[in-house]
Amino acid sequence: MEKVIDENAQGQSLVLAQEATNKRKMYIESYGCQMNFSDSEIVASILIKEGFNTTQNLEEADLVLVNTCSIREKAEQTVRKRLEKFNAVKKVNPGMKVGVLGCMAERLKSKFLEEEKIVDMVVGPDAYKDLPNLVKEIDEGRNAVNVILSKEETYGDIAPVRLNSNGVTAFVSITRGCDNMCTFCVVPFTRGRERSRDPRSIVEEVNDLWERGFKEVTLLGQNVDSYLWYGGGLKKDFAKASEMQKATAVNFAQLLGLVAEAKPRMRIRFSTSNPQDMTLDVIEVMAKYDNICKYIHLPVQSGSDRILKKMNRLHTRQEYFELIDNIRRIIPDCAISQDMITGFPTEAEEDHQDTLSLMEYVKYDFGFMFAYSERPGTLAAKKIDDDVPEEVKKRRLAEVIDLQQKHSLYRTQQQVGKTVEVLIEKPSKKSDAHWAGRNSQNTVVVFPKEHYKPGDLVMVRVNDCTSTTLIGEATGYSTNQ
Ligand code: SAH
Ligand code: F3S
Repeated sequence: MEKVIDENAQGQSLVLAQEATNKRKMYIESYGCQMNFSDSEIVASILIKEGFNTTQNLEEADLVLVNTCSIREKAEQTVRKRLEKFNAVKKVNPGMKVGVLGCMAERLKSKFLEEEKIVDMVVGPDAYKDLPNLVKEIDEGRNAVNVILSKEETYGDIAPVRLNSNGVTAFVSITRGCDNMCTFCVVPFTRGRERSRDPRSIVEEVNDLWERGFKEVTLLGQNVDSYLWYGGGLKKDFAKASEMQKATAVNFAQLLGLVAEAKPRMRIRFSTSNPQDMTLDVIEVMAKYDNICKYIHLPVQSGSDRILKKMNRLHTRQEYFELIDNIRRIIPDCAISQDMITGFPTEAEEDHQDTLSLMEYVKYDFGFMFAYSERPGTLAAKKIDDDVPEEVKKRRLAEVIDLQQKHSLYRTQQQVGKTVEVLIEKPSKKSDAHWAGRNSQNTVVVFPKEHYKPGDLVMVRVNDCTSTTLIGEATGYSTNQ
């Protein structure tokens, strides 16, 4: 701190400090997908303009917001447990208000207010711009609800406030909603129809992040390959667009190219790809630009054609293999990960074996695996009996997880002895003497800190590995640093 401060400046900083302490404090907790974490940054941005400060300390919060997930029943139970905790805190901080955001808010709507007395405000994923009004309502002692889904809202005009940021990696949302209607999935109901964000505002956000020192962005959407900008509006209304709009439309491959060229040293990732919507030109753009990371999260959910059909996944096992073969042909060092569901209604042992054999074929680098959880309102819940016993779901899940671990280890072992490019993000969780970062393929790499710092792009020689982590030592800066 400066020793000599002129009186005026000192006076001014006192006033500023006073203002900061007078500001109301909001505490935001996020659950579920990356999109929720990204949305919370939009919410923070909106409320900071309304005079709030963020706090990490629940006990001192004036406004507690919980951004919720409905994807599986367990995710909802976790949020209900947190609400109990907030209830306990409210006993010592009676002025505290509680708002529920995100997918549970959208799913339960005003029922939330009846079911959970602690809740003052319920706000769906497309209604965050209404937060200033909703907060006024609760300030005046009324409950507030806005769960209206939108045809246009992409929050493209809001600069997110980066929460809990490492200063190196950031999320940039590019689409909202999903039109795919997988029969098990609640997302189309909670996040509405699919719409894409103006590519200019995406590139602007990426440029701004680069100026502020960020080195990697992840373009986010429920189904990024389906991105289509034609001047705004729902994807499903594209057919009604004018000839001019159609001629100047931007698809996902083009967007990737735009972002990659805007900042050639910014690392670019994206998530999530749906196999039925991923086209060869996306894979070719990935191959063309060094700064697009060689990693695709490509959920398949099941290896059985019969189950894929019942899930309304609009591709076959064979088509998925063809996509995998194309990825491996065009980008030989591309990492691929999966999401898998075990015990979808009617899944027989034979279907489960198909899942295991599909995994053997692909040998995924990572995976996110779940036992089927029936979600109210989905087509599967309405039409198909949840008939696979819980212990069978769990046993199949354990087998899928075991096999994935074997494949993950196989993949990491292939890296031992090689030298890989790593973007340093933060200290390793296990050792403060080590940095943790990821290689292009999204595998975590840890190595001794030496003189390097977060944000550096370094070459690391891999000496050892576990199924999830590469362990090595830096050999110097990358030429791309
Ligand atoms: N496209 C999305 C998928 C969201 S859901 C994305 O951006 O990631 C994430 C994963 O949760 C799905 O791929 C699926 O494997 C799993 N999932 C969704 N609904 C489920 C359910 N009802 N039961 C179990 N797992 C489910
Ligand atoms: Fe859900 Fe399928 Fe969309 S899993 S988010 S409906 S692609």
